[in-house]
Amino acid sequence: MAPSVEKTIYVGPFVHSKSLAELEICTKGAIGVDKKGVIAFVERDDVEGVSKKDGWENAKVVEVTDNGFFFPGFIDTHIHASQYPNAGIFGKSTLLDWLNTYTFPLESSLSDLPRATTVYTRAVARTLSHGTTTAAYYATVHVPATNLLADICLAKGQRALIGRVCMNSTLSPPYYRDASVLDAITASRECIAHCRRIDPSGELVTPIITPRFAPSCTEECLHALGKLQQETGAYAQTHISENKPEVALVKELFPGNKSYADVYDQAGLLNAKMILAHAVHLTAEEKELVAARQAKISHCPASNTALTSGCAPVRDLLDRGITVGLGTDVSGGFSPSILEMARQAVWVSRHVAMHDGDHAKLSVEEVLYLATRGGAKVVGLEEKVGAFEVGMEWDAQMVALESVPEGGERHEDGFVEGVDVFGWEAWEDRVAKWLFGGDDRSTVAVWVRGRLVHSTGRYRG
Ligand code: GUN
Ligand code: FE
Repeated sequence: MAPSVEKTIYVGPFVHSKSLAELEICTKGAIGVDKKGVIAFVERDDVEGVSKKDGWENAKVVEVTDNGFFFPGFIDTHIHASQYPNAGIFGKSTLLDWLNTYTFPLESSLSDLPRATTVYTRAVARTLSHGTTTAAYYATVHVPATNLLADICLAKGQRALIGRVCMNSTLSPPYYRDASVLDAITASRECIAHCRRIDPSGELVTPIITPRFAPSCTEECLHALGKLQQETGAYAQTHISENKPEVALVKELFPGNKSYADVYDQAGLLNAKMILAHAVHLTAEEKELVAARQAKISHCPASNTALTSGCAPVRDLLDRGITVGLGTDVSGGFSPSILEMARQAVWVSRHVAMHDGDHAKLSVEEVLYLATRGGAKVVGLEEKVGAFEVGMEWDAQMVALESVPEGGERHEDGFVEGVDVFGWEAWEDRVAKWLFGGDDRSTVAVWVRGRLVHSTGRYRG
């Protein structure tokens, strides 16, 4: 049972996606959220009248400050909480040497619980401060540390899918691998049981089965994890076709399979509850297979650029009807911010467009959809989060923009938010300015299921 929250009316402009191509911008809104954190009404006309609504006379009122607006909380569909200390550290490496040089040593070190506590506490706090209300996490192979991540998310109030990483192949370093298939399955079961014990309703924290990627797992292990998914009904996540040497390696390791996607398909893992990260180099046939199986894709633009993996063909994936969300992929990606990923998705789509034509370009509306509703679909929460509709839960952020005073001098309290608004911009332009110029300073408050989970000094609640 969720602890109840104070019945609240959120008053002010709100912005959310109606569809991939269309944002709704309501410049004068009022959204009523009940004690369960569920949206009871969305008022677009008679805002003054809401406090007289039956049963809402004594509700708390939270008003947008400055030039702000309410926006749905972001969904990070792919993030390695365990790699957060390495954000920004990748040198000139590419995927396979990056894993061995930077990633496995760090992840391995989280066998130390005090260290894991520090890393996970900060990673969760940071993602919340950037407006991420739901995250699909990779932890490490360690059961106690993975369970700790689940505890931290529950305590801080973030929605989370918690993945204990499976990697039993001898390609993984001897100091950091599952000793056997049985070990990988047993440990996964323990983490699934822990998540289900601490949050029996699965409202906030749920387990996610996590084969690291095909080169890290034997065929037997992948099949066993496919069976485990069938048995438990849990979500699954992995990496696919991120860089070319990796694709070649999979071909060599799995000579009996038609393709990289086929490796997961044969293991029973390519299904509507599978989140595939990257998908940069899929063949047309593989994309057809992914679409047919309704598997989801996490687009990780910052990581794909940092590790020079490639430019994911997002427009093509969308045109094929594949569900796409955004992932920070910390620490392949350098930032825990989904707003940053939305920006990066715009840039990457421009680079694709330079070769393939303008159709590839993603708009402001489209990347904000991927950051919210698209991501919600990826993690199976599209009925609950990602937009402001009656019956959905209040997973939201309050965005504040800096209003430039006449004369242009600083406010007495200095520059607070990153985005200057002069007052004459159209609302669409304010949203675009936030996308391209905003950061965590612009996010002054964050709620999950109606619970305030982060706020800055700027928030007057
Ligand atoms: N492929 C296998 N493991 C990883 C990882 O930790 N990060 C990324 N970006 N790709 C991977
Ligand atoms: Fe990753």
